[in-house]
Amino acid sequence: EIKSIINKAVQENELSKNEIVKLLQIEEEEILEYLYQQADKVRKKYHGDDVHLRGIIEFSSYCKRDCYYCGLRKGNNVLKRYQLKTEDIITQALEGVKLGYKTIVLQSGEDDYDAEKIAYIVKEIKAKADTAITLCVGERSFDDYRLWKEAGADRYLLKHETADKDLYQRLHPGMKYEDRIERLIFLKELGFQTGSGNIIGLPGQSQESLAEDILLFKELKMDMIGIGPFIPHQETPLKDENKGTVEMTLKVLAITRLLLPLSHLPATTALGSIDNYGRQKALQAGANVVMPNITASKYRSRYEIYPAKICIEEKAADCRQCIGGIINSLGRIVAIDRGDSLYI
Ligand code: 5AD
Ligand code: FES
Repeated sequence: EIKSIINKAVQENELSKNEIVKLLQIEEEEILEYLYQQADKVRKKYHGDDVHLRGIIEFSSYCKRDCYYCGLRKGNNVLKRYQLKTEDIITQALEGVKLGYKTIVLQSGEDDYDAEKIAYIVKEIKAKADTAITLCVGERSFDDYRLWKEAGADRYLLKHETADKDLYQRLHPGMKYEDRIERLIFLKELGFQTGSGNIIGLPGQSQESLAEDILLFKELKMDMIGIGPFIPHQETPLKDENKGTVEMTLKVLAITRLLLPLSHLPATTALGSIDNYGRQKALQAGANVVMPNITASKYRSRYEIYPAKICIEEKAADCRQCIGGIINSLGRIVAIDRGDSLYI
């Protein structure tokens, strides 16, 4: 009976909330394997064996928000913060391009980095290199988003984190769920290839709400979807909570792949951080993207969103080589194109 739900998802890319919850409740090893295999098949059918790499620069760890789960929250006064200068960001991005990255992701805490400066960085990188640029700097004004689109940014990531509105409100003091969704819709309308995502295993998160996360990805037709486990951080109010599981993360990923065959789904660094083979497992359960770190090594330990993050000691070239090896070991190949949205 459960397998017939999986088969239906493969054929129709459509499931009800109840059906998704049933899949989230799978415990039998054999059926779980079947779910992952089907997600892997769908991935192969729509994306082939290409794995797209996005080099990520974490350019500022300052943050004005106080999200309960995040190590960068402003309430964490133990963290030594840093903010890279515009010229350093540009230099690191160009080094990433030299390593073969066709997408550079510029990520930061919500530090109100000057909008004009970000526009300048985007323009400079675009003028000097052939690369897609993804911005991931949180909730900003519609004018800022428009400015960056006009500057040449291609993509924007803004995870909705959880579709459970009450939980969202509890975890994000002073923020509103509606603002988040409104921004995702606006970013899409502006022409950004837009990414959302969620966190798996947040305290108080229900299976129903995970099903709603997946249905929301579909409703918003997200071009990219990042799915990672919750990892408790010592300097946050959630420090004593349990972490999300590898299994639940892979289930959500696999079901998302069945329902959104065209979307780009990363094997997240968070999953790689709670399981030595986390990223490999994700790449074999629907994922087709990896986002290696290209931040200069000396800053990496200071962008501690969650503890025991991988790739802290490595240099950009180390991660590029490591991830190439992982991809090839799975019989997959590093894509040579930009990996734009398949919806356009
Ligand atoms: N565990 C897992 N993921 C986290 N993020 C933030 N804090 C944590 C944590 N403790 C994720 C959020 C955010 C992304 C940059 O990192 O989903 O959007
Ligand atoms: Fe960074 Fe493997 S990807 S060390």
